[in-house]
Amino acid sequence: MRIAFIGGGNMAVALIKGLISRGVMPGDILAIHPGEESRRRNSRQLGILTQPVVDGAIRDFDAIVLAVKPQIAREVAGQVSRHLNASQLFITIAAGIRLIELSKWLGGHGRIVRAMPNTPALIGMGISAMVSHPDVDSEGRTLASEVMGAAGKILWLDDEKHIDAVTAVSGSGPAYVFYFIEAMQMAAKQLGLEDEDCSKLVTATFVGASNVALQSNDTLNTLRQNVTSKGGTTEAALAVFDKLNVKAAIVRGILAAAERAKEIGDEFGFQ
Ligand SMILES: NC(=O)c1ccc[n+]([C@@H]2O[C@H](COP(=O)([O-])OP(=O)(O)OC[C@H]3O[C@@H](n4cnc5c(N)ncnc54)[C@H](OP(=O)(O)O)[C@@H]3O)[C@@H](O)[C@H]2O)c1
Repeated sequence: MRIAFIGGGNMAVALIKGLISRGVMPGDILAIHPGEESRRRNSRQLGILTQPVVDGAIRDFDAIVLAVKPQIAREVAGQVSRHLNASQLFITIAAGIRLIELSKWLGGHGRIVRAMPNTPALIGMGISAMVSHPDVDSEGRTLASEVMGAAGKILWLDDEKHIDAVTAVSGSGPAYVFYFIEAMQMAAKQLGLEDEDCSKLVTATFVGASNVALQSNDTLNTLRQNVTSKGGTTEAALAVFDKLNVKAAIVRGILAAAERAKEIGDEFGFQ
């Protein structure tokens, strides 16, 4: 499998590292981006091919991954369209750029997969939701699964409209978790614990509880009730959360994120 990346920033590097660790040869990976220093770093640290501008070299690759900021996606897609052939798979991770616009910018190309990864991809623990253009066959979907699976789990969606929900849930989600961790650490500090101990206790609690949620067959409600004895400490905390409507506030925040994702998609769509 030969993969060309347009863009060589955080997300591209996360995917490239994952691909190399899964056995793709660094010489079969190309990253195209303008910054001389970042290119030199990528070729030195990853052993991959790099070049500053899009040209006919991309014809030799099975898949092209668009990993630039959404604001320049249209310009870059225009450059790619001059060299793309119909059999190549085009994968975009640019937030907010829809299949219909991208296909137009790529001169009617149909083998396109849109993916929404999240930042735990940086340590191979991301989750990417993906949706394919109707022209993508099962072979194309398998290739896209292999590329995006290099950065963690994958989830195929059957309707692109759900990408806005995914953006709000798992795309922005790591920030909500960091927010909750921060709040727990603030409380731990107020209770007199050392900074280092606060951090250790809270992050280990998140990792442990997430793994229980992942591995258990019980519902979250049951798992929560199992640690909430009548008249005990957990019950005291949860009573305050409920009184302050914490759960409803989180739900409202995530709905606002989904709304914003839709607006951003509309903005790019009407460029
Ligand atoms: N980070 C996330 O959590 C996340 C999650 C989901 C989706 N995404 C999407 O992933 C995409 C990339 O995000 P990122 O965090 O990896 O961004 P980033 O670290 O800022 O990387 C952007 C890359 O684009 C390159 N670039 C700039 N102009 C270019 C051009 N004209 N042609 C080719 N390459 C160009 C830059 O090159 P130089 O290094 O040479 O300057 C840089 O390597 C974005 O569209 C974002 O929406 C990110």
